[in-house]
Amino acid sequence: MPSTYIKGIGFYVPENVVTNKDLERYMDTTDEWIQERTGIQERRYNTKYKETTSTIGAKAAQKALDDAGMKAEEIDFIIFATLSPDYYFPGCGVLVQRHLGINNKEVGALDVRNQCSGFIYALTVGDALIKTGMYKNILLVAAETHSMGLDYSTRGRNVTVIFGDGAGAVVLSATDEPSRGILANALHANGEFAEELAMINPGSHGGVHAADPSVFGYEPSEYGQTFISPKMMKDEMFFPNMNGPLVFKNAVVKFPEVIQEVLSKAGLTKSDIDLLVCHQANLRISQFVQKTMGLKDEQVWNNIQRYGNTTAASIPIALAEAYQAGKVKRGDLICLAAFGSGFTWGASLIRW
Ligand code: UT7
Repeated sequence: MPSTYIKGIGFYVPENVVTNKDLERYMDTTDEWIQERTGIQERRYNTKYKETTSTIGAKAAQKALDDAGMKAEEIDFIIFATLSPDYYFPGCGVLVQRHLGINNKEVGALDVRNQCSGFIYALTVGDALIKTGMYKNILLVAAETHSMGLDYSTRGRNVTVIFGDGAGAVVLSATDEPSRGILANALHANGEFAEELAMINPGSHGGVHAADPSVFGYEPSEYGQTFISPKMMKDEMFFPNMNGPLVFKNAVVKFPEVIQEVLSKAGLTKSDIDLLVCHQANLRISQFVQKTMGLKDEQVWNNIQRYGNTTAASIPIALAEAYQAGKVKRGDLICLAAFGSGFTWGASLIRW
C-alpha cells in the first residue's frame, strides 16, 4: 500500500491588512481586549468584489503546485475545504479547477464542509484515496472569506474580531517509502453542540431548530418555507454566532486528547514531536495546548497574531509559513490538530 506525503505546499493571504484599531471604528472593542483575549493583532481581508474564496484558493494552489514542481494537469483529484464558499452551490472545488485551467481534464472535485477542522478532514479523505490506490496526486485547497459575512456592529464583536481571510494548499502524492508521509489520522464529531458555533441562515430548516423546534420560530412565508425570509433580513439573522466560552472549554480538552490519540496510533510519544501546528482559533487555546503537552516554544508554530482565525485555511497557512521559515525538514515529525464548529475535531501525524 502506498503512503501519502505532502509533495508541495503554499499559502496566499490578501494584501489588505485590518488592524484591531481599524475595528475599533465600527464596534465597541479595543486593541487591548482583542490582544489579551485572543492574541490577534491584525488580520487580512479580501479585496471586495475582486477576490473570492475560490480565487485566493487558486493562488495558494498554484504556489503548492510550484513547490511540488508540478503542473495543474498532473492533478488527479481536487478537494476544497471551506465554510465560506463563493456560491451556496456548486462548491469551490469546481471553481478552483476552472481557475487553474484544468476544467477540460474532468477530474473529480469534492468540497468538504467541516469548518475549523476542514483541513484535517480533507487531509484524511485525501490520504485514504491515495492509500487505496485510487489517485496519485490530489490537490487539497482550504480557503476562507470571512470578511463578507461578519456583523461589524457591537452585537457581533465576539465573533468578528477573531476572523480573517486567507488560503492554504497542499499537493498530496503517493510514495512507496513506508516510513514517510501521513502516519495516522483521527476524526471526531459531537452534533450535540451544532448550534453553539454556527451560521444558521440561510438554510433549509425554514425556521425549525434541528434539536428544538421551539427555538427559531420565524414567520413562514406565504409561499411556504424559504431559505431567506423578509424577517431574517429585517432582523439581520444571517450572521455567524458563537458561544465562545463553551467552545474554548471544549477545545482545550479535545486538542490534547486527539493529539495523544494519533501519537498512540503511530506508537510514538509527545517527545517525538518536532512541530505542532494547531488550528489558529485563539492564541490562548494554542498556548494552553502547548502547556498541557509539555512542548517548548520552538516545537509549536502560531501565526494567529498576524492573520486571525482563518478557519479551514489556518493549518495549511501556518504549516506553509513554518516550512518556508525552515522549521519543517525532511524526517521531522509534524502534528496537525483542529477543533471547532460542529463540534468537530481531529489530528494528523506526518513524517515529513
Ligand atoms: O475557530 C473556531 C473555534 N473558535 C474558538 O475556538 C473560539 C473559542 N472562544 C474564544 O476564543 C473566546 O471565548 C472569545 C475570544 C471568543 C471570547 O473571549 P472570552 O474571554 O471567552 O470572553 P466572553 O465571551 O466570556 O466575554 C467577556 C466579556 C463580555 O462582556 P461582559 O458580559 O463581561 O460585560 C463580552 O460582551 O467581553 C465582552 N466582549 C468584548 N469586549 C470587547 C466580547 N467580545 C468583545 C470584544 N471587545 N471584541
